[in-house]
Amino acid sequence: MSDSNIVKKVTTQTFQQMKQNGEKISMITCYDYSTAKIFDAAGIDAILVGDSLGNVMMGYPTTLPVTVDNMITYAASVVRAVKRAFVVVDMPFGSYQGDPKLAVSNAVRIMKETGCQAVKIEGGQEIEESFKAILSAGIPIMGHLGLTPQSVNKFGGYGLRAKANEEAQTLFQNAQLLQDYGCFSVVLEKIPAHLATEVSKTLTIPTIGIGAGNACDGQVLVYQDMLGISDMVLPKFVRKYADLSSVIKNAVSNYVSDVKSGAFPSAEESY
Ligand code: KIV
Repeated sequence: MSDSNIVKKVTTQTFQQMKQNGEKISMITCYDYSTAKIFDAAGIDAILVGDSLGNVMMGYPTTLPVTVDNMITYAASVVRAVKRAFVVVDMPFGSYQGDPKLAVSNAVRIMKETGCQAVKIEGGQEIEESFKAILSAGIPIMGHLGLTPQSVNKFGGYGLRAKANEEAQTLFQNAQLLQDYGCFSVVLEKIPAHLATEVSKTLTIPTIGIGAGNACDGQVLVYQDMLGISDMVLPKFVRKYADLSSVIKNAVSNYVSDVKSGAFPSAEESY
């Protein structure tokens, strides 16, 4: 194989270099082999196998029912497809809160059984022991602060977080703590842009924003939202880059017509 065929994999070091060089990090969610191949070929820097798969792939109203086994099945499919992008996998609700020993064994399972490069967990100081236990096993962690969907029942919905001073201060402190624990990056979800700017300027690790303004060191979107596949009402931070729902509906409806009329398959499409 010639050197030009060797694809340089994105790593946690690449994330750090990109922050230092002021190069923005592009991240998108993905949950399956075929789509991951396309995203990787399109040049995405990182793929998040998010527990949002509970909503967009499994049809649950929240991410709470998602299990470690669910995450492993979807994540392993993504990892098999990807050559360049960094792959990070969400630890689902109940798999890291509480018992740090359970947190490490779940994180180890995810790493071993999927081949991903890191895990993502939601929360701050309240789960300090789990952060430390997972990091001490040599597993890189991407933190997640702000709107953390696994806490939807505590928040009472999916509204903007850290609008009030006290919550903003707590978020700021938690972001610094995550960096001190040794996280390599942190997602900031649905918080005021000025707060995300302050956090991004203060931290030496990259921030990845979703509904957190454009001063973050990178951005992430759920792919069904940005490609127009989702039938949900989308928050204003989503930019729709395509309307795949119409494209797919149109194609399948043409196929239905062709099958019904006998126009498919043709002689050329037969043996
Ligand atoms: O699960 C997910 O897709 C996420 C992103 C929205 C950041 O956590």
